[in-house]
Amino acid sequence: MNTSSSVIQPLSLDVFQQKKIQVSIKRDDLIHPFISGNKWRKLKYVLRDAKEKQKTTLATFGGAFSNHLLAVASAGATFGFKTVGFVRGDELDIKNPVLKMCHLFGMRLIFVARDEYRNKDVLFAKYFDTNKSVYFVPEGGSCMKALPGVAEILDELTDTYDYLFTASGTGGTLAGLAKGVADKHLATKVNGIAVIKGGEYLNHEIEKWIGNTPYTLHTNFHRGGYAKTDNELVLFARNFSRKTGIVIEPIYTAKMIMAVMELASQDYFEPDSKVLCIHTGGIWGGIGLLF
Ligand SMILES: Cc1ncc(COP(=O)(O)O)c(C=O)c1O
Repeated sequence: MNTSSSVIQPLSLDVFQQKKIQVSIKRDDLIHPFISGNKWRKLKYVLRDAKEKQKTTLATFGGAFSNHLLAVASAGATFGFKTVGFVRGDELDIKNPVLKMCHLFGMRLIFVARDEYRNKDVLFAKYFDTNKSVYFVPEGGSCMKALPGVAEILDELTDTYDYLFTASGTGGTLAGLAKGVADKHLATKVNGIAVIKGGEYLNHEIEKWIGNTPYTLHTNFHRGGYAKTDNELVLFARNFSRKTGIVIEPIYTAKMIMAVMELASQDYFEPDSKVLCIHTGGIWGGIGLLF
């Protein structure tokens, strides 16, 4: 794990130059090949808690292309836990490379139908009710214990930013950033781009973690919904990799950067604003959508 500060690189895309704003990207994708980006940030203190409670197995949940499942599988192998992954869905491509990698790291995969997958507590109890050695890691790793690890992003910043941006799936990363900014009394405006349709419900989840700590969740940049792509998005992600050498996938980071570009073109940012986008890593889950 490269736990030293991840680098920050300028993103000099045309629209940012036209609007005279300085946009940079924090390369959390470089933290680790599989426990990358927000995965490491969110799992760090969850893993510590599991160790302190002397748990020997991590059980968690995800879709067939889940970056989170892969991160937990890899973290388990690295830090000496057995791992179990409940995989959602009936139309599974169980030979896909993400699940293959989970298997390679020794994760036991349990495939469950969508209905059964919905209630994680019931599912966990069905398999591990009396087994006290198994630690429940929520889907996406998002929980109260995940927030301080995300907030550590702010400790690594040597510059001050007017805006922070992250992609939002469960809202855990956004909550951690917002809490960190509030705790440090920074004026930075924390923004999330919901990558799912109807993302407004994330506000309720986030409120459970951080109450009324301020942040902004943009819910109109999902481009059709979770893991939905279109030509413009795919072409953008491909061109971005070619132009910058930074690989972004279309489910999270490409959607977030396109949203920041769109906001810039709508004059959302005052001239001279400094904007920092977090590359939340996890390229393996969505990379197949680029080809
Ligand atoms: C690569 C990547 N970026 C962003 C997110 C969204 O983060 P969060 O679920 O904390 O909102 C996820 C999913 O957790 C992800 O895999």
